[in-house]
Amino acid sequence: MPQSPLHTFRRVYVWEIPVRFFHWINALCIFVLAATGMIIAHPPAFVQASEASFSYWFGEVRFIHFVTAYVFVFNFAVRIYWGFVGNRYADWKNFLPLRRAQFREVAAVMRVDVLQERGTPVHAVGHNAVAYFTYFAMFLVFLFQVASGFAMYSAMSTSWFPNLFAWITPLFGDEYALRQWHYAATWFFLIFTVVHVYLVFYHDYVEGHGVMSSMVGGWKFLDSRVDETGRPADGKSWFGATRHTPPPDHPS
Ligand code: HEM
Repeated sequence: MPQSPLHTFRRVYVWEIPVRFFHWINALCIFVLAATGMIIAHPPAFVQASEASFSYWFGEVRFIHFVTAYVFVFNFAVRIYWGFVGNRYADWKNFLPLRRAQFREVAAVMRVDVLQERGTPVHAVGHNAVAYFTYFAMFLVFLFQVASGFAMYSAMSTSWFPNLFAWITPLFGDEYALRQWHYAATWFFLIFTVVHVYLVFYHDYVEGHGVMSSMVGGWKFLDSRVDETGRPADGKSWFGATRHTPPPDHPS
């Protein structure tokens, strides 16, 4: 039986190595920071019978938290840099909600994903517009978390980097108030992660584009008739090129 062109896919290299490394280092950092952060926020009260110098584990937990925070900042800086030099899917411009076409794509994604309408699915090759905006919002919370964390750290550090953020604490009143915001943002990451992992599995299953494995190997599988330079929502690329040009072997 001839195969429907709808089921003809080609491989597109989407996530370059720096994006994939960023993603998994970032996920690991979030895990370590949230775990150690929760211990710092809720120190378990148990009495140790051993010598005090053997009981420095809480200091070690804080040390791991601070070292991981530096790794997190460096990793995030690499991703921002890659937004300027990486491929079109990694481009920083995708993350900013500036174009009408992006909002049309948000509406299209909502109709299909949330309202479950039987419309044409959105064939986004990178992230879809909803995902890009969500990641942008998360990057803003990353910045807040870095700034608030290092502002608190500046009170006990003579190093120049944490002290760059010392002015932030008075803006929030005092260190305790800032700590409450830092703690709330941690919950934002935890809730984001649950929803995020659910959605990538959902998209992988429903669309069959290989979303999950794309963050490992970099490749997605795209309907052959969709032009990956275009965006589905508006008949044009966000950045000017035309879209939906059927390749010669697939007349529509
Ligand atoms: C451990 C479970 C996780 C899995 C299986 C997972 C999977 C994925 C996948 C498959 C994508 C690509 C989606 C697409 O192509 O549209 C992605 C993107 C992304 N994920 Fe995750 N993720 C996980 C954890 C996290 C965590 C903990 C965070 C941060 C809190 C995170 C933040 C992001 C970001 C920011 C992107 C966009 C990457 C970029 O464009 O630079 N992920 N994730």
